[in-house]
Amino acid sequence: MSTLPQIIAISNRKGGTGKTTVSVNLAAELAALGRRVLLVDLDSQGHCAVGLGIKLTRGDAAVHGIFTDPDVRLASVIRETAFENLSLAPADQLFEHGSGLRDECRLARALAEEEIAASFDVVIVDTPPSLDILLLNALTAANWVLVPYVPHHLSFEGVRQLMRVLFKVMTGANPGLKILGFLPNTTADHIRLHRAVTGEVSRQFGAHRVLTGIRSDIRLAEAFAAGKPVRHYAPTSRGALDFADLGVRLLPALG
Ligand SMILES: Nc1ncnc2c1ncn2[C@@H]1O[C@H](COP(=O)(O)OP(=O)(O)O)[C@@H](O)[C@H]1O
Ligand SMILES: [Mg+2]
Repeated sequence: MSTLPQIIAISNRKGGTGKTTVSVNLAAELAALGRRVLLVDLDSQGHCAVGLGIKLTRGDAAVHGIFTDPDVRLASVIRETAFENLSLAPADQLFEHGSGLRDECRLARALAEEEIAASFDVVIVDTPPSLDILLLNALTAANWVLVPYVPHHLSFEGVRQLMRVLFKVMTGANPGLKILGFLPNTTADHIRLHRAVTGEVSRQFGAHRVLTGIRSDIRLAEAFAAGKPVRHYAPTSRGALDFADLGVRLLPALG
């Protein structure tokens, strides 16, 4: 038996907080640090493929297949990327949220299969912001949840809504789920409002859970459009430095 991979869900109930940016770039950092990484894209917008330069065509095998057909194996939808140690289970852009099997343990079971456990050390799951069976699957499968948030008040509501779901999952299907951290994204230290909301997260969840943030950097958006993780697109940029730092900081928790 192989050791089970460490599974990290990247979640916030609000869109546009950097879930996909963090998923793609953290996956690339951990891969560069020698971990065999599988990125699972549960958001049917399919943005993880875009950020990794993978063009999908209609009808391509996608992770959402496991939710519509109990016979589909996760291993059959995984593809290698242009980046060493980094594989992707792409999203199905035609998947209708709210459709499919009503089984919140489907992803957990798929990730526990021997061929996945033998092939990967870390699984990163990018999640949709909507509260549906896909988000519940991600949180039920995960060992860890990492919460990127934009430090202003509207964004904090997304964190609050996520915490309600987390509490349900932790007291139900997945008591082992732990918070890997809250990650301020698009930070600018000199703006007081950002400090205030990061202060709010610290007060509610503990300062030790707030990670050093990812600064605002246009290079992150450019890298995404170019289909590359920022470490490959602009290795000396602020975004690349911040993600490199994040990867090194999180590695010890991931064993
Ligand atoms: N630190 C950052 N600096 C600059 N732009 C960012 C940063 N993080 C994310 N973005 C941009 O913000 C937008 C939303 O990010 P995205 O990762 O798609 O969020 P989500 O997946 O939560 O909806 C994207 O255009 C992305 O390129
Ligand atoms: Mg996204």
